[in-house]
Amino acid sequence: MGEVDPAFIQDPEHRPKLSVTEAEGIPLIDLSPLNSSDNISDPKAIEGVVREIGNACKEWGFFQVINHGVLLDKHKKIEAAARKFFAQPLEEKRKITRDENSLFGYYDTEHTKNVRDWKEVFDFAVEEPMLMPASLDPENKEETKWTNRWPEYPPELRVACEEYTEEVEKLALKLMGLIALSLGLTADRFNSYFKDQTSFIRLNYYPPCPSPQLALGIGRHKDSGALTVLAQDEVGGLEVKRKRDGEWIQVKPTPNAYIINVGDIIQVWSNDRYESVEHRVLLNSEKGRFSIPYFVNPAHYTLVQPLEELTHEQEDPAKYKPYSWGKFLNHRKLSNFKKHNAENIQL
Ligand code: SIN
Ligand code: FE2
Repeated sequence: MGEVDPAFIQDPEHRPKLSVTEAEGIPLIDLSPLNSSDNISDPKAIEGVVREIGNACKEWGFFQVINHGVLLDKHKKIEAAARKFFAQPLEEKRKITRDENSLFGYYDTEHTKNVRDWKEVFDFAVEEPMLMPASLDPENKEETKWTNRWPEYPPELRVACEEYTEEVEKLALKLMGLIALSLGLTADRFNSYFKDQTSFIRLNYYPPCPSPQLALGIGRHKDSGALTVLAQDEVGGLEVKRKRDGEWIQVKPTPNAYIINVGDIIQVWSNDRYESVEHRVLLNSEKGRFSIPYFVNPAHYTLVQPLEELTHEQEDPAKYKPYSWGKFLNHRKLSNFKKHNAENIQL
């Protein structure tokens, strides 16, 4: 245990059980019916898929999709480039460390619930520059622009990221349409929120850890955005808290599948019909793990609140007050940045 810095050590009640028994996994949904109809405006053809997605969102907040249409080749390229980037010495990676002007780039100082995560990260915006509020003051309407920081090595990383983004973005929007249908809304109900989206993609590297029973790759948390579309490699380690009994359930890697989860924004939009669920990442003493989440987020000026169609003054009143997504994101990122960036512990 002496090998792990105390900053990484979880309180006993949050430490992982490493001998996991076989358990029922999150639902696996085949999206191939979508490929035969060009778009999702033909509700008949995709009725079954919509029902499965609705049930998965209600029961788990998580599901996996196969036959999703994302080109495997683009996924392989971004993963290969990520592996090359993270294999460099720390001082190389730290040349593109994020700073307060743009929170995109490299960092290895993330903390979740005040315990340090055993991981390294590279974040980039899907739409660049990303428009953000300049200030947390609600009266101040000025905008600032966050830009991406690309490393020199490997030179192919930028194009690999851009091409992958194009692919996975199509899947993300399709999924938002299917989720809208599953809530009884029109397939295009969420589209307008994603003009000027603040979505971003993260390359995660979880190095091998000498004490995987004490630390976590990322501690328990819920995703604050609308939806997450995650690619994980074959190592595994993601665990989801099962809603029905609070048990931690492993998401076993399924080749060429994406893991989808509902974030806090969908929870608010749906007025709790779908809930954002806690998850965390376990470590491995021998193998490093790579994952690539795409965080699907609306424009910064979106006022997040329960949708009118899904609330009723008497029978189903709104459970949340409106909040500004941009101010929330800005506050969250900046405060995390300020709190933890001063230290510079080696992974
Ligand atoms: C995350 O929850 O942000 C990452 C999940 C993963 O790496 O599997
Ligand atoms: Fe997450």
